[in-house]
Amino acid sequence: MVDIVVVDRSGTEHIVAADAGVSVMEAIRDAGLDELLALCGGCCSCATCHVIVDPDFAAALPPIGADEDDLLDSSDHRSPTSRLSCQLPVDEALAGLRVSIAPED
Ligand code: FES
Repeated sequence: MVDIVVVDRSGTEHIVAADAGVSVMEAIRDAGLDELLALCGGCCSCATCHVIVDPDFAAALPPIGADEDDLLDSSDHRSPTSRLSCQLPVDEALAGLRVSIAPED
């Protein structure tokens, strides 16, 4: 298990224990944080799993894909470290990863 820190829209921090191999989106959803809608179920087609990654971890993440990049462009809340959490697999190197759930579009 890998602990990640998830900050919800009220600013409350949640420590989420995630199995290696699941996506950050799945870990957040399985922890019961329902602010992250993840409407498409992880198919990279909805952008409702938008998170803002702590800059300290941005370089440890896989490169952003073209589809992910296009979807994030549709958000009014995109930041330099925005990612779609369904595209971020959890692994041991991400222990302590900190993400904030993006404001709703
Ligand atoms: S869950 Fe739809 S794009 Fe991530």
